[in-house]
Amino acid sequence: MEELRIRPIRDGTVIDHIERGRALEVLKILGVDSSTRDVVSVAMNVSSEKMGAKDVVKVEGREIGSTETDIIALIAPEATVNVVREYEVTEKYVVSMPDEITGVLTCPNPSCITNGGEPVETSFEVEDDGELRCSYCDEVLEDEVAEYIS
Ligand code: CTP
Ligand code: ZN
Repeated sequence: MEELRIRPIRDGTVIDHIERGRALEVLKILGVDSSTRDVVSVAMNVSSEKMGAKDVVKVEGREIGSTETDIIALIAPEATVNVVREYEVTEKYVVSMPDEITGVLTCPNPSCITNGGEPVETSFEVEDDGELRCSYCDEVLEDEVAEYIS
């Protein structure tokens, strides 16, 4: 039986099976920072039969949406997202790679129309090799995706 590192939560979201070392990027995607008031637990390097070692993130009182889940797929393709209600896992989904990511990432190209002060939502196409390309200016994101979260 798996050792209980963090206790079960009553309501919220558990992101499990995160590749070890990626928990902090997942937190960034979820918008968890020092201003967060949600109760958040992070376990890093927990032993896992399937993965050897994994990270786990639990956010209480919040059910994360599909946009966030899609971005989690980019950095933690093996993750499972579990929605917990009244202590029970009511939904479990394996994250999947989206074709396009809109409105979450910022284009690093200063001349991109999405940085021009106009109300244009950013959009990135996910290429077959996992590369992210701005739909407007073709700029490719070279760094870790978490660096581009607005
Ligand atoms: N969990 C939790 N609080 C609950 C219920 C579940 O924190 N009230 C966590 C578990 O610790 C686990 C994840 O949510 O990390 C998924 O729970 P569950 O589906 O019960 O675990 P497994 O069957 O081991 O999941 P999987 O098959 O995805 O490995
Ligand atoms: Zn651009």
